[in-house]
Amino acid sequence: MQQLTLPFIPPAATQKLTQDSFSHNGVCREQARLELEQRYGHLLQETAVFNRQIVSFQANKTETLHSWIKYREGFSAQLVALLLQEFGIQPDETVLDPFAGSGTTLLTAQMLGIDAVGIELLPHCYLAWEAKTAVFAYDLAELTAMRQRIQTEQPPPVNEPFPHLTITESAFPPENERALMAYTCWFEQMDVSPLTRQLCRATLMSILEEVSYTRKDGQYLRWDGRAAKIIQRNQTRLSQGKKPVKGIHKGKIPAVQDAFLQKFNQILRDIARLQAENGAGGRQELIAGNTLYTLPTLADGRFQAVITSPPYANRYDYTRTYALELAWLGINEDIFRLRQDMLSCTVENKPKLEKLRRFYRSIGREDAFERVTAVWQENAALREINEALQTRQQLGQINNKGILTMIRQYFAEMTFVFAGLYRVCDSGAYVAVINDNVRYAGEVIPVDLLSTNLAEAVGFRPVKIYVLPQRKGNSSQQMGRYGRRALRKSITIWQKP
Ligand SMILES: C[S@@+](CC[C@H](N)C(=O)[O-])C[C@H]1O[C@@H](n2cnc3c(N)ncnc32)[C@H](O)[C@@H]1O
Repeated sequence: MQQLTLPFIPPAATQKLTQDSFSHNGVCREQARLELEQRYGHLLQETAVFNRQIVSFQANKTETLHSWIKYREGFSAQLVALLLQEFGIQPDETVLDPFAGSGTTLLTAQMLGIDAVGIELLPHCYLAWEAKTAVFAYDLAELTAMRQRIQTEQPPPVNEPFPHLTITESAFPPENERALMAYTCWFEQMDVSPLTRQLCRATLMSILEEVSYTRKDGQYLRWDGRAAKIIQRNQTRLSQGKKPVKGIHKGKIPAVQDAFLQKFNQILRDIARLQAENGAGGRQELIAGNTLYTLPTLADGRFQAVITSPPYANRYDYTRTYALELAWLGINEDIFRLRQDMLSCTVENKPKLEKLRRFYRSIGREDAFERVTAVWQENAALREINEALQTRQQLGQINNKGILTMIRQYFAEMTFVFAGLYRVCDSGAYVAVINDNVRYAGEVIPVDLLSTNLAEAVGFRPVKIYVLPQRKGNSSQQMGRYGRRALRKSITIWQKP
C-alpha cells in the first residue's frame, strides 16, 4: 500500500484545529458532532503545502492552458499535480473527477500522461474542457490566419438577437451585444476546421463577463449601474419614493473585438508553447451529465484515484453565476432542469431522492439504493444537524426553510456519490475531496468530518484531513448574531482498502 509522502510544512502560526462547541450558546445538542471530532480529530493536519491560492482558481489565473477560461469555483492544476504525486499515480492509471467543472483534474492528468474521466452537468464547462483538451491537436497555421482575419475584418452584422434568459436581459452594452451575435454567427459559417471553430467559440464564451455589465460574485451576478435593467429599476424606485440601488462600476468595458483578440493571443501563445514542449498526453473523457445517475453506470474498480471538489453547501447557484454563458449557449427553459439536477447546494433545490430510487430500480439496483439510504439516515451527526436546524427554524433564526432541505439533501446525495466512488475505485485507490465547513444560524456543520464518517460507512478507510492554514470567515450576518467562528477548509483523503 502506497504511503502518503507529502512533506509536512508547518504553517506560520498553528491554530486549534478542532472546535469546542458546535451550537452557539449551546442551544442544540452537539454530542454527535463532538464524537466525530473524537473519532477523526487525529487525522486533521494543518499544512502550508496547501494554501488558498492553490486550493482555489487563483493559482490557475497565470497557468498555461488553465487560465484560458476563468472558473471561480475551480481548484488549481498545482493542487491536482501535488495530489497525483502524493498518491503515486502512474501514466497507465486512470483518475476520476465526478464534479469536473472546468476540467482541472482531467487536464492536469493529461499533461502528466495520466488517463482521466470526468462527469459534469453544466454545458459551458464542457465547452471549456473541450477547447483545452484539444491543445495538442490545433492547427497553429490555421489559428494564426484566423487571428489575422479577426484583426483586419469585421463580422457581417446579423439580425439574430442574443438568446437572453430573463436574468440576463440588458447584461451587455448594446454595441457589444450586437458584436457578440455577429461573431457567433460568423464563426458558425466560416469555412474552417471544427477545432478552430470550437476554439473561437470557447474564446468568445470566455470574454462574455468581461464585455458585459455584470461581475460574477459567488452567489449572484453583480450589476453595473449603467445596465438598462438597473436604470429602469431605479426609475421605478425613485417614482415610489425609494432609494435607488447602487450598482457596481466596472470602468471601461472593452469592445468585443479587443477582448477577443487579447484572449486569443494568449491562447495561441500557450498552444505554440505546449505543442513545442510535449506530446499528446493521457486520454481524456468528460461525460456530460449528472453524477448521481452517471456514476452508477461506470464499471467496478476502474479508477486508481479520485480528485474532486463538489459544490459546497453554501447556497451558491452556478446556474445564476454562469447565466450569461448558459444563455449564450442557447440554454433556455432547460436552465430550471439544470438547477434542480445540481447536487443540492441551493435553497431552491427540491428533493430528488424519489427520482433517484426510480433510477436505481430501473437499473436493477434498488438494494444499493436502500443500503445507501440507510447509511445517511442512520448517521447520528447528520440527524443531530438536521434536528438542530429545525430547532433554529422554530426559534425564528432561519427564515428560509430551503436551508433545511438543502443540508438534508446535500449529505444524502453525497452519500450516494461516496458509495458510487467506492464501487468504481480500484482496491488501494485514494480519494481526495476538497470542501468547506459551513455554519447556519450558529450551528457549525463540520462537512469534512461528516463526509469522512459517511465515506467510512460505505467502506472507505479514512486516511487524513489536510486543513488549510487560512480559515474561512463567516457571513457578516452570522458574525453579527452568533460571533466569529473560523471554519475549516479541508482536503479529506480516504482509501479503498
Ligand atoms: C466546485 S466545482 C468543481 C470545479 C473543478 N474542480 C475545477 O477545477 O474546475 C463543482 C462542479 O460540480 C458540478 N456539479 C454540480 N452538481 C452536479 C451533478 N449532479 N452532476 C455533475 N456535476 C455537478 C458543478 O456544475 C460544478 O462545475
